[in-house]
Amino acid sequence: MKTVGVLGCGLMGSGIAQVCAQSGYKTIVREVDQKLVDKGLARIESFLDAGVERKKVSPESRDQTLSNLSGTTDVEAMAETDLIIEAIVENLEAKRVMYTALDKVVGEDTLFASNTSSLCITEMASTTTRPDRFFGLHFFSPVPVMKLVEVVRGLSTSDETYEKGMDFAVSLGKEPITAPDRPGFIVNRLLIPYLLDAIRAYESGVGTLEDLDKGMSLGCGHPMGPFTLLDFVGLDTTYYIANIMYDEFRDPAYAAPPLLKRMVLAGHHGRKTKRGFYTY
Ligand code: CAA
Repeated sequence: MKTVGVLGCGLMGSGIAQVCAQSGYKTIVREVDQKLVDKGLARIESFLDAGVERKKVSPESRDQTLSNLSGTTDVEAMAETDLIIEAIVENLEAKRVMYTALDKVVGEDTLFASNTSSLCITEMASTTTRPDRFFGLHFFSPVPVMKLVEVVRGLSTSDETYEKGMDFAVSLGKEPITAPDRPGFIVNRLLIPYLLDAIRAYESGVGTLEDLDKGMSLGCGHPMGPFTLLDFVGLDTTYYIANIMYDEFRDPAYAAPPLLKRMVLAGHHGRKTKRGFYTY
């Protein structure tokens, strides 16, 4: 693989594009309008600059990464890609429209991967002309820092595609794990009930936000307590994933607590809206 197309240049898409370009792939990132392209590329540049300041990234590597990157609003610009990584909004219909457009533009051998955190890989694959060349590639935020990637096999994913997905993740300097095509894959299967339980504990008066967070960060060595993490991941994102998991498994462990639903309805989505469990 030489050229990677990344669809979506939000928080996840820009992080994915950065690590691809940083690992030597010619990377084309696509957004719906030029403003979002510029915003995404600026986010990458400032992350790299911060990396240089921290001495984690050399100035040469920053320059090389930026020269491997380009942004576009044009789906046709994806024509020469070997792999497409989709990181657009978590909406099956929006993804289907995107894959249908891409199917007409890219070559037969181009692989499709989705960074979805909860939608069904088999279902997405079946909306394309290449279900055997479709797989899940789930990154974690912040993408340039977190080492893990979940490689997800749909029912139709071929062995060859899966192997290529694993090799690709390793080539990015990530540690891949094989996850099943079930809502939440591996990490969110464990993380979401934990986060929901933290909210339930708070709702039932077990402790203050600060003490619950301190309990898990200082008591268990987690880098962030559950409420700091909820604000970081996004309350809307957590609610969305929990609902998909609950729909599939009908297990109360995945049922969103009333407080989470109300905070989402109030627009308190966490860091990105400057208000979640904490105020920023
Ligand atoms: N360039 C390069 N490296 C950078 C960097 C940059 N711009 N910014 C930070 N880093 C590196 C730092 O140098 C440091 O590396 P070392 O440990 O080797 O020194 C590391 O990243 C951590 O940075 P900091 O020390 O500045 O910050 P921190 O210790 O506060 O960590 C954090 C920040 C990595 C976000 C940490 O708090 C953390 O791991 N939080 C949990 C994140 C998490 O759980 N993510 C998963 C969310 S779930 C998800 O994404 C999936 C989903 O589907 C919902």
